[in-house]
Amino acid sequence: MKKILVTAGPTRERIDPIRFISNYSTGRFGYEIAREARRRGFDVTLISGPTALKTPSGVKIVRVETALEMREAVLKRSKNADCIIMAAAVCDWKAKKPRQKKIKKRGGKFVLELEQNPDILKELGRRKRYALVGFALETEGLEKNALKKLREKNLDIIVANKLNGNKLFGSNNIDIVIIDRQGLRARFRKKTKKALANIILDKALNFTI
Ligand code: CTP
Repeated sequence: MKKILVTAGPTRERIDPIRFISNYSTGRFGYEIAREARRRGFDVTLISGPTALKTPSGVKIVRVETALEMREAVLKRSKNADCIIMAAAVCDWKAKKPRQKKIKKRGGKFVLELEQNPDILKELGRRKRYALVGFALETEGLEKNALKKLREKNLDIIVANKLNGNKLFGSNNIDIVIIDRQGLRARFRKKTKKALANIILDKALNFTI
């Protein structure tokens, strides 16, 4: 039985015991992909950042909070996977020195130093023995940037969304472009995440060995 690994949701990067950095991701796309993959009878593991969603039935769930936890959970399971779909909105940045105690508001100004998180998808691209799918969320230069990510991260497929305002998050009718490693582009308009999940799975499975 084919093993599919899906990541979903945002990550949270701690600043102090009360506050964190995150993003607007709801996790719905990744959960939908995991649900549809399971419906096809695959062995599905979903590695999820914090979301309010119910785990699709029959899907194994691994809950993580930070990008580093997600990295560890994904890399550990990557060796056995036939296909990895990185739908998670991993935070690119984390606080350089997360504080053990609440940061108090002294004076008027507060500077928070950030450092970059590892790029999980890029690491997965270096040791590839599975079909690899990435996502790209862009506010401009959609196809150009997506193609660049596809090449730089050694992906089989990239799913590119353009963000207008923050309408995409939580929304169910979205426009996407899927580009594969041969450079083939397919544009989809106003499709549900469920329909898109199936289109992505069909394409990704072509790249499994
Ligand atoms: N991703 C990842 N690890 C990160 C950041 C992103 O694995 N630290 C993955 C996401 O899951 C997604 C893809 O990389 O599948 C693209 O993420 P995105 O934030 O659009 O792109 P970046 O490569 O971070 O580039 P930039 O922020 O410059 O647009």
